[in-house]
Amino acid sequence: MSEGPPQDLLQAARQAQESAYAPYSHFPVGAALRLPGGRIVAAGNVENASYGLSMCAERSAAFAAASGGARKFAEILVVGETKGPIAPCGACRQVLFEFMDAAAPVWLVGQGGKWRRTSLAELLPNAFSPRDLDTAD
Ligand code: THU
Repeated sequence: MSEGPPQDLLQAARQAQESAYAPYSHFPVGAALRLPGGRIVAAGNVENASYGLSMCAERSAAFAAASGGARKFAEILVVGETKGPIAPCGACRQVLFEFMDAAAPVWLVGQGGKWRRTSLAELLPNAFSPRDLDTAD
């Protein structure tokens, strides 16, 4: 029984990390998510000379998957060179919440492969939900 991060997701995320465009922060991040059918979609962060326009790896992957028609992600893995497992930013947590079940696996990996398995229930408690837009009685 394997209990660590899924190796196929880790490999895809590391490959995306290598292709990340991070000339300003020098902090490349890779994210790989699995669709319910098994397909993996991966992306890295993409920065911009106008810094505020930069996009995190998680949202790059989420938007690539959603633009391809996906509406549900089964799990996601994020890798960056933090001392411990990387922590996704608040904006990415909210975007992932749109497409993932609260209990779905979120794998966070840092330097030396240090990892943590968590979920959006833990990362974003009391999230604003798509269901909150449904105000009908
Ligand atoms: N970044 C990500 O892509 N994902 C994270 O989880 C944390 C931060 C990016 C944003 C920016 O391009 C660089 O890392 C430094 O913050």
